Amino acid sequence: MTKEKRELARRQDKAPIATAWDYAPAPEARDIVKVQERYGLFIGGKFVEPESGERYTTIDPAHEEPLSEIAQAGKADVDRAVRAARDAFANGWSGLRPSERAKYLFRIARLLQERSREFAVLESLNGGKPIRESRDVDVPLAAAHFFYYAGWADKLEYAFPNRTPRPIGVAGQIIPWNFPLLMLAWKIAPALAAGNTVVLKPAETTPLSALLFCDVLRQAELPPGVVNIITGDGRTGAELVSHPDVDKIAFTGSTEVGKAIQRTLAGTGKRLTLELGGKAANIVFDDAPLDQAVEGIINGIYFNQGHVCCAGSRLLVQESIYETVVAKLKRRMATLRVGDPLDKNTDVGAINSKQQLEKISALVQSGVDEGAEIYQPPCKLPERGYWFVPTVFTNVAQSYRIAQEEIFGPVLSVLTFRTPDEAIEKANNTPYGLSAGVWTEKGSRILAMAQKLRAGVVWANTYNRFDPASPFGGYKESGFGREGGRHGLEPYVVLDDA
Ligand code: NAI
Ligand code: MG
Repeated sequence: MTKEKRELARRQDKAPIATAWDYAPAPEARDIVKVQERYGLFIGGKFVEPESGERYTTIDPAHEEPLSEIAQAGKADVDRAVRAARDAFANGWSGLRPSERAKYLFRIARLLQERSREFAVLESLNGGKPIRESRDVDVPLAAAHFFYYAGWADKLEYAFPNRTPRPIGVAGQIIPWNFPLLMLAWKIAPALAAGNTVVLKPAETTPLSALLFCDVLRQAELPPGVVNIITGDGRTGAELVSHPDVDKIAFTGSTEVGKAIQRTLAGTGKRLTLELGGKAANIVFDDAPLDQAVEGIINGIYFNQGHVCCAGSRLLVQESIYETVVAKLKRRMATLRVGDPLDKNTDVGAINSKQQLEKISALVQSGVDEGAEIYQPPCKLPERGYWFVPTVFTNVAQSYRIAQEEIFGPVLSVLTFRTPDEAIEKANNTPYGLSAGVWTEKGSRILAMAQKLRAGVVWANTYNRFDPASPFGGYKESGFGREGGRHGLEPYVVLDDA
């Protein structure tokens, strides 16, 4: 046995071992949340009936049971919301002392913390994500975002030295369903800190945490019209994008819709930021701490059912450790608990919608048809609801659809490489460029890789880590503009020379 082989064999013994122990159910009580039978649109500081007269049903994807009737805002409703935002911008908010604006943002942050359990339960109920994630990730990060931008509100001239930052006006913001409350925070916090007002549209499948957030705005006594929340599907989003009195659009969602928005806005002079899809490479070198790397691979792709734009959906493993890594990965996958999102022991919850489940299933079928080898651990899925077993594909060629397209589900494709150059080439061989991961013991290699990877975020020896102080955003078809950090203020200000 060579030294390297011995070393590998030694490390292999440390793989987590699946036990035969059963977990007792540990469901979080849901009675802390009071979902109304129906909701209106939050415009000018109060809920109003939709002029469209249309409503649709939002459901719990883990049980396919209706939760509430949601308003589908039409053209007149969008116009009403934009007028409320314009009025609030012109008559108060934009001229308010910055430290006053900060006060409201601090209040919102604190209220989110105080009501965190309520938000966590509601987020898991409406979106299907495990309560452990909404409780430990989504809600605390959303509050942290408001705290962070509250701090900037009265320091904007330090964020942009020798320039005079002014607010833009009315921001139209459209967000997706994978991190409903967190994406709301990413959009609203910097916009308000810089003195803008907002019309925000949550995704059609996950409107409830945004509607509960309206109650936080009431508690915080935010002046009416500064934040308006309108619900509805893509049609509502399209109306907001094309409304002539919106000064800026911020969008997170599919590349397809992002491109359509860009076409609509071309030549209008409206500002635009797009945060779109991804197909990130998670690259594991042979000197990486393998058990840690396996945890990072698992977290990278199975976190939030893989409904993550920066998910590590392409695993690139150095050839010499390929078999070891894949064996460890499969063992670890067998310990993932799939099921009730409200159970505190659940690792993988429900797929967000029937539509998304169909998309994942079709792409997985294409992987099988194209000749990749599929592995799914034994797993008993609940009878009702939308579920998908954590899946890994080996023998994947770069040309396969599963290696090219964003699946947005718990599905990993494994590829191999021999040299760092080959890893870079394969990692960058995608129309996207949002994120990447590097696992190695060598600091110099981390720096060299980070420089050559065409990705907005590169994680080293970790994955899916977020902090409000750190900018996030993409290259190429992953979009443009940054959210988070000082960079995240830029899309919300006009800069005059001082
Ligand atoms: P989508 O892009 O259609 O939806 C995102 C948001 O845009 C929702 O609020 C939706 O109502 C709105 N929207 C839809 N059409 C619009 C239009 N024409 N104008 C303005 N707003 C519009 O994404 P969808 O259909 O829910 O998911 C499809 C795929 O997109 C997913 O499978 C995934 O691959 C990707 N996706 C990426 C996300 C990311 O975080 N980058 C988030 C959600 C989806
Ligand atoms: Mg769509």
